[in-house]
Amino acid sequence: MDLRRIESALSGTVFDRKVHVFARVESTNALAVKAAMEGAPEGTLFVADAQTAGRGRGGHGWHSEAGTGLYLSFVLRPAKMIAREALWLSLAAGAAVHDGVREATGISADLRWPNDLLVGSKKFCGILAEQQSEGEDVRFMVVGIGINVNHAEFPPELNEIATSLRIVAGREQDRIKVLELVLRAFDREYRRLLHPPRGSAGEELLQRLPRISTWISGKQVHVPEQGGYDGVTAGLDQRGFLLVRTAQGMRTVLSGGVREPL
Ligand code: BTN
Repeated sequence: MDLRRIESALSGTVFDRKVHVFARVESTNALAVKAAMEGAPEGTLFVADAQTAGRGRGGHGWHSEAGTGLYLSFVLRPAKMIAREALWLSLAAGAAVHDGVREATGISADLRWPNDLLVGSKKFCGILAEQQSEGEDVRFMVVGIGINVNHAEFPPELNEIATSLRIVAGREQDRIKVLELVLRAFDREYRRLLHPPRGSAGEELLQRLPRISTWISGKQVHVPEQGGYDGVTAGLDQRGFLLVRTAQGMRTVLSGGVREPL
């Protein structure tokens, strides 16, 4: 990973001159959380060529093969954004990966609420947002993004559920171009959230999400929370939470995410 190239690719963004590149770390999220607790400014970005203990959601790990994927995390300090609005940042990160990947590779991904990116039924990107709040205020948020870019294969346990941009496109991809276009797209999303062109934060993103996600309405899903239940997705509420119509009535998915029914 060429620090100079990454720095020039990100000039003028929130990440400008705040890039740290490593050959191998345990987890870029762990680094970013530690740095944020020590006062790192907004936009501080950690990028690694490999992770030895990549973190996924729900206590899972993240397969972080050396030299092929993008593993990055950054610190945000969204002024005035209260904890319950932080879901927008997560959704914005998913939308940014969708747009950046399409610009860099031509691949149209599907956003599985809140922020997994799939092609068909296979996942190539996961996002882990970790936040620290003080009362209602978000002190900082760390957004970690893992993208399978040039993986040619996966361990057997991931084979059925994971893919990479290289596998989908049938040719190798430029990792730094993907990084640049994803993070530039995030920079745009973030500015729109903080200074909405109209209405409240997230309103405009809410309008766009159904165009990049087949999961938001009319999809039969399993929700692995509150004991687990099945239903059909029925759009997002005004805060960006997913609604699911079940035999017992409408329910709101609060955390985790959704899956195809078992
Ligand atoms: C998921 O479970 O889908 C989220 C995976 C997030 C993985 C990324 S890789 C870069 C960053 N550092 C981590 O330890 N995790 C995130």
